Amino acid sequence: MGVVGSDWLVRSERDSEEEPDKALDEMKIRKGMVIGDVGAGVGYFTIRLAERVGPSGKVFASDIQPEMLNLLKERLGRTTLRNVETVLGTTTDPKLPPSSCDYILLVDVYHEFSEPQRMLQKMKEALKPEGRLVLLEYRKEDPSVPIRFEHKMSVAEVRAELEAEGFKLERVSGVLPRQHIFFFRK
Ligand SMILES: C[S@@+](CC[C@H](N)C(=O)[O-])C[C@H]1O[C@@H](n2cnc3c(N)ncnc32)[C@H](O)[C@@H]1O
Repeated sequence: MGVVGSDWLVRSERDSEEEPDKALDEMKIRKGMVIGDVGAGVGYFTIRLAERVGPSGKVFASDIQPEMLNLLKERLGRTTLRNVETVLGTTTDPKLPPSSCDYILLVDVYHEFSEPQRMLQKMKEALKPEGRLVLLEYRKEDPSVPIRFEHKMSVAEVRAELEAEGFKLERVSGVLPRQHIFFFRK
């Protein structure tokens, strides 16, 4: 998604369509955690994550589009949050510090990766030993989800791609109206 479409990421209906707080409740985010928000866009999840981890925690917000990160910085400037570090990544490397993250979160991002295997290896390095990689993707199995087919992923597709790169699927949550939540460990 290009920056011209970034308004869609903060559309007013998104809260009711996607229930982001329910997703973060499922992740059991705690104060002091370190989270990598990869493909952060303009920070729809970043800001919620930063509020949840609090001043003793940290969020690395990585994206490959500097324009997205600039919009995120503007949004952060209108808050009192000081625990977000924006990171300009590349298509092969989110540029997160090694063994730093309790969670890496990818919301509606994995299917956009042009070099998914290389991104997965780098994210594996950035996770702590007990860290988890969490993906939210629109459910391809469900024709009633009003999103273009090529922007959806099935459980079988996600599982096959990530397990081939050394991740283990721990569980899939179906609590959200439109997306699956995938929890992987390394
Ligand atoms: C559909 S947007 C989702 C943004 C955000 N996660 C959200 O839910 O609002 C996808 C984002 O992924 C970013 N992206 C695509 N490939 C990427 C990569 N290899 N590394 C980091 N970000 C990437 C795009 O620049 C875009 O901002």
